[in-house]
Amino acid sequence: MPVSMAPRLKERIEVHTPELLTPLLDPVISDFLHNTPDTLIDLVTQHGSPLNLVWPHAFQANVAAFQSVLNQFGVRHAIFYGAKANKSQSLLGAAAGSGIGTDVSSLYELESALRAGTPPERLCATGPAKTAAFHRALVREGALICVDSQEEFDHLKSVVESLSAPVKARVLLRYRPRSCPSSRFGMGADELLSCLQRLTELSEIIHFEGFHFHLGGYDVETRVQAFRELGGFVDAAREMALTPGIIDIGGGLPIRYIDPQAYAQFLQNANQPSHYHNQRVPNSFYPYGSHLTACQWLTLFLQAEHSAGCSIADYLKNQNITLALEPGRSLVDQAAISVFRITRIKQLANDKTVLFVEGSSFSACETWFSSEYLVDPILITQPVSAPKPIQAYIAGHSCLEDDVITHRLIHFNTTPQAGDLLIYANTAGYQMDLLENEFHRHPLPRRLMASCCTDGHYAFSPDY
Ligand SMILES: Cc1ncc(COP(=O)(O)O)c(C=O)c1O
Repeated sequence: MPVSMAPRLKERIEVHTPELLTPLLDPVISDFLHNTPDTLIDLVTQHGSPLNLVWPHAFQANVAAFQSVLNQFGVRHAIFYGAKANKSQSLLGAAAGSGIGTDVSSLYELESALRAGTPPERLCATGPAKTAAFHRALVREGALICVDSQEEFDHLKSVVESLSAPVKARVLLRYRPRSCPSSRFGMGADELLSCLQRLTELSEIIHFEGFHFHLGGYDVETRVQAFRELGGFVDAAREMALTPGIIDIGGGLPIRYIDPQAYAQFLQNANQPSHYHNQRVPNSFYPYGSHLTACQWLTLFLQAEHSAGCSIADYLKNQNITLALEPGRSLVDQAAISVFRITRIKQLANDKTVLFVEGSSFSACETWFSSEYLVDPILITQPVSAPKPIQAYIAGHSCLEDDVITHRLIHFNTTPQAGDLLIYANTAGYQMDLLENEFHRHPLPRRLMASCCTDGHYAFSPDY
């Protein structure tokens, strides 16, 4: 287990990087953890545990990497940050600062994105059950609206008609790809064609801009297939004298938390019931050791064959269509870490050990989806003269039996002590705050934005 000592300390502090599911870490964050763990301890003392540290530079780097791929292929593009992935205001600010748009799924995300400085015409609204207030605000602001159903279409039409000022709604129609016939999201062929037909008569109040879909999972092939299916609808729309100019393929670009080889080895050798305190291996996991990065995924998508001799990139260029993306998780890759302070180490029956932390699994939420965050935490501890290795699982501070952050028995080279810190890396994508709440009236975890000052020193400010 690699250990680094912080150089400038009143008391010595050790940083233990786990060896099994070693988190891939942004170099800036890694330097911060290894060189100044005392700062982290001070921040937790000041702001409490758990503490989420948000790193907008990582978000900006992810945007630049996507743009570089899209530019290499010479395709017109529009990136909308899927704001649902994280509640940080500074990440919305990073999206605005990078010049990309934001995908908003509620009135509150819309307001936050506007407050962050995103121009309203760069907002795109998704979700199947938009309220009248949300629709009204979107229409007034001139944001793009992904219409999920004929029912939403009717609702939006009535909202526009009810507005006193003459405004047009800008819409994409959400398609339900053939690969997911029973999904409740989007429209099948007949409904889509019927909406297109109605749009031809509503051009005074609704401006049709193109099509949208979003699929679960992380496959490239399902997106390629869905994209191909849309070709016929683009043609049909044009035959009706409509002008589709955008195909929005949603989110679902994968990210890599763990080296793929190490991850494959872990799944093969170290993921048996005996590796879990409850003797149960979850049925499914996020592909933490994804064999594709998001940029490789995007490259494969653009290179994929659309029709004989014509790639998707060629099709987009030939047809003058803008490729829109709504990446959530992949844009916040490496953009936050979550820090939990250990309260107690308790011996249980059958030689088991549990570490209790200040904080709960609502702030590291994978176990609530019957899964597990397969990334081991980094331990920040005081050195002891005779380190004793242990294996322990990690539980939150609530009285719920299910409040377990990590059911897996994690190996520690030295027994953690009360007051030590556990750092979960790369938690920005849903993990850190999707389910956070004030259970037991604990205050919501604090979120701080890191900004680089000089020479590896960082300033941390509230991120709301
Ligand atoms: C419509 C839509 N777009 C984008 C996203 C973001 O997906 P991801 O975070 O996997 O990129 C989601 C996630 O559920 C979604 O429903």
